[in-house]
Amino acid sequence: MIRLDALEILDSRGQPTLAVAAQLEDGTKAWARVPSGASTGSKEALELRDGDPKRFLGKGVEKAVAHVLGPLQDAVAHLSPERQEEVDRALLAADGTPSKSKLGANAILGVSMAVAAAAAKSRGLPLYRYWKQEGPYRLPVPLLNVINGGRHADNNLDLQEFMLVPHGFPTFHRALRAAAEIYQHLKHLLRERNLSTGVGDEGGFAPDLRSDEEALELLVEAIERAGYRPGEEVSLAIDAAASELGQKGRYRVQGEAMEAPSLVALYEKWSRLYPVVSLEDGLGEDDPQGWQALNRALGNRWQLVGDDLFVTSRELILWGQREKLANTVLIKPNQVGTLTETFAALEACRNGGWRAILSHRSGETEDTIIADLAVASGAGQIKTGAPARGERVAKYNRLLLIEKELGEDGMYAGPEFFPR
Ligand code: PGA
Ligand code: ZN
Repeated sequence: MIRLDALEILDSRGQPTLAVAAQLEDGTKAWARVPSGASTGSKEALELRDGDPKRFLGKGVEKAVAHVLGPLQDAVAHLSPERQEEVDRALLAADGTPSKSKLGANAILGVSMAVAAAAAKSRGLPLYRYWKQEGPYRLPVPLLNVINGGRHADNNLDLQEFMLVPHGFPTFHRALRAAAEIYQHLKHLLRERNLSTGVGDEGGFAPDLRSDEEALELLVEAIERAGYRPGEEVSLAIDAAASELGQKGRYRVQGEAMEAPSLVALYEKWSRLYPVVSLEDGLGEDDPQGWQALNRALGNRWQLVGDDLFVTSRELILWGQREKLANTVLIKPNQVGTLTETFAALEACRNGGWRAILSHRSGETEDTIIADLAVASGAGQIKTGAPARGERVAKYNRLLLIEKELGEDGMYAGPEFFPR
């Protein structure tokens, strides 16, 4: 027996989102909260908004709440909460559309996650153990977005995210400490140059800079000031979110219009100048030829990560593997809408010899399920914003706790994933 509850709450941007609870026969009740993106891929499952301009400027989610309490409740009422696949299949059947547009992927994911959370709680297990019955466990390398641009800030940076990758440490907590120290040094550096230290949606600083390259230079300087070795202990990652930079293979970067080959050449130049190890959405979701060229040029040196390109869809990941478009996938449960489909995407990565990075959204809540998912899946990497702002820090703090709980059974993935 599963009894659902749902409620409209706020996300980190102050926009409404859903909290969903599942209560089981033994009285156990657990809540899950649904995140929301801003630079979304066009093939993502549909996030249902009310469209009533009188409430939250049209962004209310009362319809999604009603769908949880009505049709989704009916679909799962009689099911066993431990049978996630059956639960998720029933949710999909209740909706019946390929993009989850009838009941809303936000409503469906909320139920999928709440059921898992309740099932784990009822067994007395933390989620990471519920999903993965035995060790060894891998603590993920965090990709910390410390300079924000693009759709996540109102500054002049075209590229959306400039991240720290503290891989060269023996433990997760040591790696996180390095990133937190570098973040403070970065703040001082910006102040010294009279640049803004206000932050963007994911907690990274959002200064106006002379160019996107200057962001990479600042990060290298901040790493050194904090006393760490760029490239050996702490490297860099970029999310260009290039679907937002143009269309059909034409992009605008640093004030210049360019086609895919020039943008690939720019990335190649950066690969010689800066200790970058990972590039996400370097090209647009509608530019597979560009991705192939990028993969030929940099695929053996960089992680090339598809976010908008694959939208956590198993089918699109398999297509990407056949067409040799990339080598890594960003995994966001709300892009696809159920945990079972999220697991299928992770499995497709594993089977194809690709990497996977668990990810937050730019609109987040205090929910920490992706931290548990990162550990249980053994993906080895998580991207969940700056080491600042409660909704970002909640995930990192959850990982600190998991690391402590695991003790000897937990191993930091850094040196394994980015050996130097
Ligand atoms: P989003 O951004 O959550 O706004 O889509 C995150 C990302 O592009 O990785
Ligand atoms: Zn992205």
